[in-house]
Formats: sequence, C-alpha cells, structure tokens
Amino acid sequence: MERIILAATLCVAALLFGCTTAGKEGQTCFQSQNCDPGLHCEICLSAGLRPRCTRTQPISPTSKVKGLPFNRYSWLTTHNAYARIGVKSGTGSIILAPTNQEDSITSQLQQPAINVLQEIKIFLEANPSEIITIILEDHVTSTNGLTKVFDAAGLRKFWFPSSRMPGHGKDWPTVDNMVNKNQRLVVFTSNQTKEASEGIAYQWKYTVENQCKSCYAPPIL
Ligand SMILES: *[C@@H]1O[C@H](CO)[C@@H](O)[C@H](O)[C@H]1NC(C)=O
Repeated sequence: MERIILAATLCVAALLFGCTTAGKEGQTCFQSQNCDPGLHCEICLSAGLRPRCTRTQPISPTSKVKGLPFNRYSWLTTHNAYARIGVKSGTGSIILAPTNQEDSITSQLQQPAINVLQEIKIFLEANPSEIITIILEDHVTSTNGLTKVFDAAGLRKFWFPSSRMPGHGKDWPTVDNMVNKNQRLVVFTSNQTKEASEGIAYQWKYTVENQCKSCYAPPIL
C-alpha cells in the first residue's frame, strides 16, 4: 500500500514538474495545453520517442535558391488539409474522418469544393509569386464537372496547361517562367480520362510517390 502511495506521489510530482517546465519549444510535454501558444505536443522521431513541444515552420524553397525548374524544389504539402482537429464541417456536423492538421486552411470536409477553390483564388491573387499544386482524388463523374467548378471559382486564368508538363523525368519550366506567365495553379487528377477530355493532367503520368504506408504501420509484436 505504501509503495502504491509513494508511486502515486512520484507520478504527481512528475506531472507537476512536467507542467511547470514544459512549454517552450523542444521541451517534453503530455499534451498541447502544456506547451506555449502556437506549439503542439508531438513526437518527432529524430528527437526520440518522448513527445515535445514543437513548432512547424515552413520555409519557401524559392527563398533559398532562385530560378530552378519547378520539379527541382521540394515543396511542403498537406494531405487531407481540411481534416483539422477540433473543427466542425461547413454544415455544422462533426467530422468523422481522421484528423491530421492543427494549423491549416479554413476549408472543411463538407464545404462545397467551390468555397475551397475560391479561397485558393484569393490566395493566388494576393500572392503573385506563389504557385499552388492540387492533387485531386477525383470522384467527380459529371461531364466537365471539375472544369465547371474551377471556372466558376475564377481559377482558369491561373491554370498551368498540361501541354506544358514534361514527361519522362524531363525538367519543368522554371518557377520564374510559371510566375511570369501567371500559370501558377498546377492541378492533377486521379481520373485518367480527364486529361484528354478536360485537359486536367493525370497524376501518374507526371508524378511519383514514395512508399509512405510504412510510416503508419504498427510495430510487429
Ligand atoms: C472519370 O471521369 C469520367 C468523366 O467525367 C467519368 O465518366 C468516369 O466515371 C470517371 N471515372 C472514375 C473512376 O471516377
């Protein structure tokens, strides 16, 4: 019994200690509330298995090296960026899909696509040297359905045409060329037929993907 109380006391002490010392970037934490504002409590494998207060700070690669072909840069991307922790969908219902974003664009799962695309248009207009790439898991089956929604959102003027996308591992135009021509929206679809019918590039004709599934695989017991 005494041992249990002692153990419990130690745990409380550890918790208090954790509460008072955690908070700054890099310090260990139990949950994000233990960290300073703007930080999240997360495990970063390169810093060991204990969760730490972390901050994600994207750096634009073009601010480091200028003038390279588009494909020579590594761009920060998000997957399911709408899936934010703690948000409700545009219709007010709770999002059941897994969440994976704490800081993100304001798009939400059940918003009509046009809302998200209009937000992208506003961003492209406000940031004339930025390029946005969208990779769509495309379930739109209506004739020219995607084209219509991109047009309605006013994004046509930023369209990077698939005819300018090089195949066979060749270099893309430089980012400066894309910016000068205002072709700053790169869109890929998972539906192979749409490159011929709507001019929307088929993802696997131009891109490759690394094997990321292993990141999530549970440890073998
Ligand atoms: C691809 O798009 C076409 C045309 O919109 C549609 O008829 C077809 O069902 C789509 N294929 C898939 C797999 O969604």
